[in-house]
Parts: sequence; structure tokens; C-alpha cells
Amino acid sequence: ESLQAIVAPLLEWYDRHARILPWRESPEPYRVWISEIMLQQTRVEAVKPYYDRFLKELPDLHALAEASEPQLLKLWEGLGYYNRVRNLQKAARVIVSEYGGEFPRDVETLRSLPGIGEYTAGAIASISFNRPEPAVDGNVLRVVSRLAASREDISSPKVKGAISDALRQVYPAGRCGDFTQSLMELGATVCLPNGAPRCAECPLAELCAGRREGIAAGLPVKPGRKPR
Ligand code: ADE
Repeated sequence: ESLQAIVAPLLEWYDRHARILPWRESPEPYRVWISEIMLQQTRVEAVKPYYDRFLKELPDLHALAEASEPQLLKLWEGLGYYNRVRNLQKAARVIVSEYGGEFPRDVETLRSLPGIGEYTAGAIASISFNRPEPAVDGNVLRVVSRLAASREDISSPKVKGAISDALRQVYPAGRCGDFTQSLMELGATVCLPNGAPRCAECPLAELCAGRREGIAAGLPVKPGRKPR
């Protein structure tokens, strides 16, 4: 079953309900990249002040490439997982030295950079460069599992790959970044985890097989638990 039907209502909902977040002010790859790395292990509200300060002190790739280690660690202090910021600088140096300071646009090249995996590459390619590349995080896996009433184990790379492929096929030309962010946003604000989806507020409620079957709240199934 295709996900095509979700595209229009989801984008319409996103236009009306997207939170105003600092990294959404403009889609420059540097800004998107820093935000996605910070958001990987840290909540949106906690990231905001770090993000603003980081962008103010290190406003572009060159500033990041040339920053001192103490400055970097200070900007990251409290966020944890310090390899994230070390990899940011490594990648910035590669982009400056190998790519003339121009951010790569294709996911393969993005993925070759330190600290950039499939998720971050998809986020940058879609949000900054309007490419039809999904960025599948836990929120997106949950949303799609519920839509499809799927009891598949979302920790399986095969399942994740299948969801990525299904999404890639329906990316809307011209609005790839909004589509990526609308999926994340629905998962973060409506299609909530821990059995708490707010289906009454969901623009996709009528398209959701999980809701229709009364099992949305229990999805995705945690690996290791037998489905009942
Ligand atoms: N979590 C991960 N990426 C995000 C984004 N771009 N906006 C809001 N929450 C996110």
C-alpha cells in the first residue's frame, strides 16, 4: 500500500502547525547539519540555547574548521557525547579541504563525512537541497508503523530500509524538506510514543490502519516482545 495519500494532508497540516524552531529560519546546510547532530541525543527544548550560541560563535564551516578544541568543548558542554562535536569539526575540515568549502549535495558523499550517517545525510539532502531523501529516525519509524498497522521490528535494518524506500517513492517535488520535517513533526507532537497518540488531532487519522484496527497506541512493537 502506498504512502502517497499522506503527502498532501501532511504538508497542509505542517504549514499550519510546524513549530517555529531556530534551525527552520533558513535551510542552509550548515545550520541544518548542526541542528540534526545536536538533536540526535538531546531534546528540542534543550538544544535551542546551545544551537543559538553555537551558530553565533561559529557561524559557518570555516569558523568551525578553525575553532580551538577548548572552544568546541565549551560550546558542547552539557550536551554530552563529545565525539559528536569532534566529528563536526573533522567533517568541516574535510568540506573545506576536499570540497572547496561547498557542502556536498548527494547522500553518498554526505555519508562519507565523519559523524554523518544515513539519517543525517537524508535530513541535509532533503531539507537543504530539496532532494527526495528520507531521514528516518525513531519518530518517523513510529508514524509509518502505525499508518501501516505494522508489527514489524523497527530495529531491523531491513524494516528501516523498506520504510525509507517506501517514503522515497512519494517525496513531493519542490517540498522535500518540508515533507521530511512534517514526518518528524507529526511524530514529535501528535503521533506520540508510549501509547499516547493524539489521533483526534492527527491529519492522517483517516488514513491510519493502526488507528482503524485499534492498535496504533501499541505500535511499534518493541523487539523481543511477542505480539499478542
Ligand atoms: N528532531 C530531529 N530533527 C528535527 C527537526 N529538524 N525539527 C524538529 N525536531 C527534530
